[in-house]
Amino acid sequence: MKVRVFGDGAEASRAVARLISRQLELQPASVLGLPTGRTSVAVYQELVRLGPDFSRAHTFNLDEFVGLPARHRRSFHAFMDRHLFCRVNIPARQVHFLNGAATDLAAECARFEHAITRAGGLDLLVLGVGANGHIGFNEPGSAVFAPTHRARLTLATRRANAGLFAGRPSLVPPEALSMGMRTILAARAIVLIATGRSKARAIRAMRSGRVTPTVPASFLQLHDDVTLVLDRAAASHASL
Ligand code: GLP
Repeated sequence: MKVRVFGDGAEASRAVARLISRQLELQPASVLGLPTGRTSVAVYQELVRLGPDFSRAHTFNLDEFVGLPARHRRSFHAFMDRHLFCRVNIPARQVHFLNGAATDLAAECARFEHAITRAGGLDLLVLGVGANGHIGFNEPGSAVFAPTHRARLTLATRRANAGLFAGRPSLVPPEALSMGMRTILAARAIVLIATGRSKARAIRAMRSGRVTPTVPASFLQLHDDVTLVLDRAAASHASL
């Protein structure tokens, strides 16, 4: 695992935006996997400023809440439109999401897996991490080594996502669809960004050498092209 530590979150975000931009320059038809969450907002802001050409790229978002249609203002789809897709030149047909409002959710997960395969697999997958070590919506203790699946969210994760729901964890849907660890580990390259002290314990646990479902992020130790981009606060508990 390569580790890069920056002075603060803004610098770390700029570094990740540069990595995405460089990927698109080297390989304009890249297939990108993208996260949501507060950490990603600064990355997308900088990416929009850098303005790489997205016209041939395909993107697949990691996850979506069950029950929220794409146009729902609190869906991850709407989040991504606001922060990135409305601001870059990516054709709508090249933007791929899990549909949390699909009637048959198992079929929707299978469709999504199939779409990733048809696109040629993920070239670069960008990840955030939850304070409890979750990746996408692969929660601690769940059967994480799975393909895209339906996941039940922990209270901690619903709290962490409450920002999108007027600060009220009870309004956060209790379930989501998420790329599984199997899908994630099949990406050719992975970049994980973590900033702030609240992520320091998760970073230490994922770097401990043990691969355990208790810390889904620890599965990344099984991949041979992972770059961790941290700020000093997130790196503060880990021996790097
Ligand atoms: C959500 C997303 C994750 C993301 C996490 C971290 O739970 N499903 O993909 O990594 O939030 O969010 P934040 O950056 O807001 O801490």
